[in-house]
Amino acid sequence: MSSSLSLYIHWPFCLSNCPYCDFNSHVAEKPIDEARWRRALLAEMDHFAGESMAGRPLKSIFFGGGTPSTMSPETTAALIEAAKSHWPSPKCLEISLEANPTSVEAGKLKDFAAAGVNRLSLGVQSFSDKSLKFLGREHSTAEAIVAIDLARANFERCSFDLIYGLPEQSIEMWKHELNKALEMATGHLSLYQLTIEAGTQFFADKVSEADPETGANLYALTSELTAQAGLSHYEISNYAHPGEECQHNVAVWRGSDYVGIGPGAHGRMSKGEDTHALYQIYNPTRWLEKVENDGHATAKRTSLTANERAEEIIMTGLRLSEGIEAHRFKSFLNSEALLRLKEGGFLVMEKGILRTTDTGQLCLNSVLGELLST
Ligand SMILES: C[S@@+](CC[C@H](N)C(=O)[O-])C[C@H]1O[C@@H](n2cnc3c(N)ncnc32)[C@H](O)[C@@H]1O
Ligand code: SF4
Repeated sequence: MSSSLSLYIHWPFCLSNCPYCDFNSHVAEKPIDEARWRRALLAEMDHFAGESMAGRPLKSIFFGGGTPSTMSPETTAALIEAAKSHWPSPKCLEISLEANPTSVEAGKLKDFAAAGVNRLSLGVQSFSDKSLKFLGREHSTAEAIVAIDLARANFERCSFDLIYGLPEQSIEMWKHELNKALEMATGHLSLYQLTIEAGTQFFADKVSEADPETGANLYALTSELTAQAGLSHYEISNYAHPGEECQHNVAVWRGSDYVGIGPGAHGRMSKGEDTHALYQIYNPTRWLEKVENDGHATAKRTSLTANERAEEIIMTGLRLSEGIEAHRFKSFLNSEALLRLKEGGFLVMEKGILRTTDTGQLCLNSVLGELLST
């Protein structure tokens, strides 16, 4: 049987621009023509279903953004139905959707569940109104709590995101928020340390990230409290009860194939030893027009060399606590760096599996830089 496939659908619209965000997200200047967007997403899905991906079993669908909860549940339903008609899909197909906890979006959660979404990822970001304001969010703590309750009531599986390491956030303040999050946790949490990305408002305002020592302490506290609550730290920023991991993300990090549709989406498609990397046009308007003209808006398609493919699986595989099978990747790793990083406590090798330690995860980019150097 051919290997399974995941589907990523990018919805680029948001109600407002958050000052820290560098995702492909846009506030539409005028109401968008949703029927037109729906047709284009369906057309691009059609295009890929006819590719080498035809007949492959579908493992997961992920609606990411932007803010997919600003989409209408009818569009979500149409996309799910089309995906199921294109690819054989199991009953347990994971269908995730990212949602913001504003009251408008929370009011639609029931309809997203009826549309077929069975896993909700809520962008709570903080349980402090002061921090929510600093992060430029459109919702309050009270709204976030209502949205979490609604998510629990309507979805088999849910998760919420928090951002920590904000300027002026002490260890005690984060501890308090994290404890609140753990009380409300629904089996999965994504806990991200604030990063300041070039091109964002925070970057222009010279907002600073937590210094390395504070960052390490916050990260260690996060690991400790989530572990006490029985959540496994299965990826750098993701914590879950067994079986609650986001199957879509895990599949992508393990190096499975995925189709990406929508502006700026990317995909990986393999046939035998050959893997292609695909990148869709980033700008929403140009993406829409291109799909309307050509049926798809692939901006770039490249065949990855064995080295490039191995490197990307090493990079994502080492984000996961399960690690990577050393024998598959040994020839791509710098053996001297590997030894040094094991001795330094950044990596461990057990029963042929190479993993990052907590220390290694904290500085994964430097670890990878050394490990993949020639
Ligand atoms: C695609 S975004 C969010 C989806 C949704 N629009 C929202 O805002 O909740 C996914 C998550 O990435 C995290 N994130 C985005 N930018 C970040 C940054 N600069 N630092 C840390 N976390 C960030 C946020 O927690 C966010 O919920
Ligand atoms: S964090 Fe979410 S809501 Fe805010 S701009 Fe980014 S994608 Fe949009």
